Parts: sequence; C-alpha cells; structure tokens
Amino acid sequence: MIATVRGARKLRGEVRLPGDKSISHRALILGALADGTSSVRGLSQGADVRSTAACLRALGVEVDQGTVAGRGVSGLRQAGGPLDCGNSGTTMRLLAGVLAAQDFTSELTGDSSLRNRPMDRVVEPLKAMGADASWPPLRVGGRGPLHGIEYRPQVPSAQVKSAVLLAGLFADGITEVVESIATRDHTERMLRAMGAPVTPKGNGVRVERAARLRPLALAIPGDLSAASFWLVAGGLIAGSRIRIRDVGLNPTRTAFVELLRRTGFGVAAGATSEAAGEPVGWLEVAGASDLAPVNLIAGDAAAMIDELPVLAVAATQLPGTSRIEGARELRVKESDRIEAMTEGLEAMGADITTLDDGWEIRGPSRLEGARVLSHGDHRVAMAFAVAGLLARGETTIEGAECADISFPGFFDQLDSLTAAC
Ligand code: S3P
Repeated sequence: MIATVRGARKLRGEVRLPGDKSISHRALILGALADGTSSVRGLSQGADVRSTAACLRALGVEVDQGTVAGRGVSGLRQAGGPLDCGNSGTTMRLLAGVLAAQDFTSELTGDSSLRNRPMDRVVEPLKAMGADASWPPLRVGGRGPLHGIEYRPQVPSAQVKSAVLLAGLFADGITEVVESIATRDHTERMLRAMGAPVTPKGNGVRVERAARLRPLALAIPGDLSAASFWLVAGGLIAGSRIRIRDVGLNPTRTAFVELLRRTGFGVAAGATSEAAGEPVGWLEVAGASDLAPVNLIAGDAAAMIDELPVLAVAATQLPGTSRIEGARELRVKESDRIEAMTEGLEAMGADITTLDDGWEIRGPSRLEGARVLSHGDHRVAMAFAVAGLLARGETTIEGAECADISFPGFFDQLDSLTAAC
C-alpha cells in the first residue's frame, strides 16, 4: 500500500492508542503458563501480537478474544511444525526463553527481516543455562532441566532479559540478569503481579522456579511508543492539541516524553490508575517553544529505542545540530533504521548525516514532500508519515501497510486528527 500524507495546518482531537505491544505479548505468553484463564482486555490487534497468539495456539493454548486459557507452567505441548513469529522479534526471543526449558524441541521462524535478525543474543545465555539452543534457524529445547545463571547482557535488550527470566521460571536455583543500562521492565512487573518469585537486586533482577502463576485480569494500557508519533506531530505543528487517553506510563518507557519536554515541547501527563503493576494515565501535547537540539550519548538510546526514528524526524525541525548517538541497535531492528531514516529524510530535504550508531541532524529544515520507502518497517513508515505532516506538499510512503505491525488504524487516526481542524 502507498500512503499519501499532506502537510497539515494543525492536528486536534482525543485518541486512544492500540494496546501496548510489549505488555500484550507478555500477557499472552505468561497467561498461557498460568493456572487458569486470564482475562486480557485491550490487547494490541497488531500483526506482531497476532503472531504470538498464533504460536501459542500451535503450542496447544486456547487464545480467544480477550481470554487465554492457561495450561500451567508445564502444560505446553510440542507444535506440529516450525512456529511462525512473522515480523516479531519479541515473539521469537520471549518464546525462545520459555521453549528452551521444555522437554521437546521447537523451531522458531519468521519473515525474511526476522530471520536475519541476531538471535545469538538469546541462544548464548540459554545454552549457559543448560538448554539445547542453536541458530540459524532458531531451535531450542528438548534437553533436561535448566539451571540458573547470573547473566550480564552485552547489549541492552528487554527481549534478551525477558528470555532469560522466562527460562529462569523453569530453572533450578536463582536466575539473575544484571543490566548496565536499564531496559523496559514489563516482564518483571507482570510476573510479580502473577505471584512469581521475582526480586530486584541492585541493577539486576532475580527470578526463581515458579510452581504456579496466578491468572491475569488485565486491561492493557495504550502504547506509549505509538503515542510518540502524535507527540512529535502535535508539538511541532503550531495550533495543535492532542489528548491521548489510557496510555501506559511505565517509567522505563517515558524517557522520550521527558526528552521532548527538555527540548521545549509542551507535553502534560497525569496518572489515573494501575494495571498489573503498570501505571496508566493520559498525555496531552500542545505546541512547543524555545526549541533546543537533542544530544543523545551512549546509554541514552536504550530507554527510547523505538522512538528514535520519529526523534530523527523531530530533530529536522530543531534549531542547531542534534546528535543521536549510541543507537547502533537500530541497525538490527525490523530494518536498518539508521539508513532507512537517512534515505527518506534526505529525499525530503533534511540536512542529515549517518553515523555508525545514529545521526547528526542540522535544523530547522523546510521539509518537502517526497516519495519515501518504509523498508517494511512499521516505525519507519509512521515516522515518515509524521515527516509528511510537517512537510510542504505531498509525501508518498511506499509499503505503508506495515504500520499494522504495531498500530492498526494509524492512517485513519492521522486523518481524524487532521480532519477535526
Ligand atoms: C521490546 C524490546 C525492545 C523494543 C521492541 C519491544 C520488548 O527490543 O525495541 O519493540 O517488548 O521487550 P530489544 O529488546 O531488542 O531492545
């Protein structure tokens, strides 16, 4: 699909976002291991979360609209063939942790983007725990019991941390993950809400074998990473006001909001409730003033890794030189996001230089509508849509359907926010 986005005069309205993708994956996977049926409202309807649901069904779990019939910690059964994780790294890496501990072997596969993403980062710790694990293709499980380890991931990754912690639920002794750079902690929060033995320890977290997990009764909050597109567009297009309801405000996910505020964006936030240990609230963006360039250094990127493509778009509108460094991980996401964003933003007239681990962007530039490519990457497609809203004329985004991976209805929501003016 080719999406056409025109420069917008202003964006106004109130929106609800798709259910948080990270929390949705975890609710399905942990729900499958619970003793009893979990009720999960507001699951992401995106293709990634549907991949997790399909894999769990292949493992014998009944997943229906809003319910997951947990089979207990030892209730999964071997799938009839390879498990198709589609485009979803979270599906593949988290399931690898659970399946490494089973007494049957599983093969996990996916689309060409996913098959080319690094899986040695989960294979290595799972092997250290005594599992049979190899890649490529990713095969795990089928060997006796695992044992706990202390693991210090080489790259900051919530997926790797989660894979090890999930394997730790089935391992003898203590499994501990020590992070030098903190990553999102949804797995830990949900496990605790389900009664699993999870304890923080310094920069680390420990888990022990779980005899049983309580089922969840959870309303999944909106996805803060999906909010990032509207925060940037609403902040940079004068006269806009966008209110976002029921959004997850987990502090391991809010670094981008804090960065926008420091940069001069008018973003207000408030907490309203809690869901399985996750804070939930609202956000409102209205204008920006005294904008300043951004300067991310090593260690800053992990806490806003999914927001960096749209941050690059924002940086084209900030006065001075923005540097976004320490983000080499972007090269091994659904596409090489560093190259993909440089290519499209350059075509739109931005002054951008690719760094090995990020970008240097000089602004503000007047963006011009252009034809750009999503590279099959949902966050790249949506970041270019925001660039299109900021640009003069018309931007066409090739391969825009991939927005459905995390944000079905993104382009309809964009239309509703521009139409209200
Ligand atoms: C995710 C972790 C991040 C993030 C991804 C979702 C998760 O990946 O980019 O969209 O749900 O754990 P990494 O763990 O590879 O950084």
